[in-house]
Amino acid sequence: MSEDSISVGAASAANSSRVARSQWSSRWVFFLAATGSAVGLGNVWKFPYITGENGGGAFVLVYLACILAIGIPLLMAEFMIGRRGQANPEGAVAALAREARASRHWRKLGTVAVLTGLLILSFYVVVAGWALAYVPTALMGKFSGLDGAASSAMFAALLADPWKLLGCTTLVLLITLGTVSLGVKEGLERSMRFMMPGLFILLLVLVGYAATTGYFGAALNFLFYPDFSKITGQGVLVALGHSFFTLSLGCGAMMVYGSYLPPGTSIAKTTLMVALTDTGVALLAGLAIFPLMFANNLEPSMGPGLVFVTLPIAFGQMPMGQLIGVLFFIMLFIAALTSAISLSEPAIAWLTEKFTVTRPKAALISGAVLWLLSIGSVLSFNAWSEMTLHGKTFFDCMDYLTANLLMPLGGLLTVLFSGWVLSRATVQQAIGIDHPQLFQLWWYLLRWLTPLGILVVFLHAIGLFD
Ligand code: PFF
Repeated sequence: MSEDSISVGAASAANSSRVARSQWSSRWVFFLAATGSAVGLGNVWKFPYITGENGGGAFVLVYLACILAIGIPLLMAEFMIGRRGQANPEGAVAALAREARASRHWRKLGTVAVLTGLLILSFYVVVAGWALAYVPTALMGKFSGLDGAASSAMFAALLADPWKLLGCTTLVLLITLGTVSLGVKEGLERSMRFMMPGLFILLLVLVGYAATTGYFGAALNFLFYPDFSKITGQGVLVALGHSFFTLSLGCGAMMVYGSYLPPGTSIAKTTLMVALTDTGVALLAGLAIFPLMFANNLEPSMGPGLVFVTLPIAFGQMPMGQLIGVLFFIMLFIAALTSAISLSEPAIAWLTEKFTVTRPKAALISGAVLWLLSIGSVLSFNAWSEMTLHGKTFFDCMDYLTANLLMPLGGLLTVLFSGWVLSRATVQQAIGIDHPQLFQLWWYLLRWLTPLGILVVFLHAIGLFD
């Protein structure tokens, strides 16, 4: 069979069970959507606190290595599978497996990815709810004059109030699924146009302010001076998990965004731009937060509250802090929203294409499941805070299970599928890299370094190499 007939075959096999698919209106919109998915709470909320918990510089270095050796090759593979398969993650993998005459069981990789996305979204909306709750708090000037202890107490009071948390979580879910049920393109395009530059500018302002605290050098040292005695096997696993989380990998989001890709867009270029922007935002957030943490005698290992405790102190002291605080939490909320939208899209596409329900109905079904699951995460901070498994609350378990196990597993299966099940000719045609050496480099990474990297980290984490 010639390459052309293979590609038509794959596309039409996937098409037969579906209505016409929508497409991003331009490459630029695709870049914005993919960046909107990648940049979110992971960069501003999670990266700083896990860096704090895992000792700083060495962790950052391992994380950057994971982005380069694992995240980037895998992101390209996910875009490629989506574009070639022209369907939701399960349908796309099934179409490509059929084309390669491989086992139909590969499709389960897509199914697990869809479910992983839903699990992540169930706690992601809770944290997005914290950002939402801080908008009126900032507006009412409640940050003025806060010190470390008062700011910690304010955040603890929010976590202790399950009704307020549930209210904010529900609102986030309604906004996310409302947007998704209307179709993601317009809403995303409009919000991303001002959100990305806005978030960048505000982070730069905050880094500028952090530089005046006298602790910028200490923060630079903490973030970039690697002290390998501080990193453990678990820390390496967390770094790997975060490279998946921050680039939205292993849970179908980038695959489904790839399936709306117009032909001719360079997957390699878009991937590099997305990874660069994402890493830049995370490092800027670290540079904004750690000086404040040192200046206010807060512990680097204080956990998920880090950004919500440190930044309000800065907003309470800096000129125009009230306005900047309001804008910041609005931006953080929108950044979270564009990621949440991409987290729900694999499930919505899966429900609409596989079970032929309408988008609003698919949003309603996923919304009900998500709302119930999110209650567990909300209660983890108050009523159920003592209910733990190996010291982890329901919220912690969801986070650990998805970021450190399910996403790397999904990623491992995706690279094995792309590098070993699909033929080189198919992949070469589908990825569309014109430069032969560049393709060779990516192909090598995808087949060897990326899967071995994931495996080694896993084995390390379960103690085989310790
Ligand atoms: N990348 C997002 C962040 O860093 O906040 C989180 C995320 C979005 C994870 C979409 C997974 C996903 F599919």
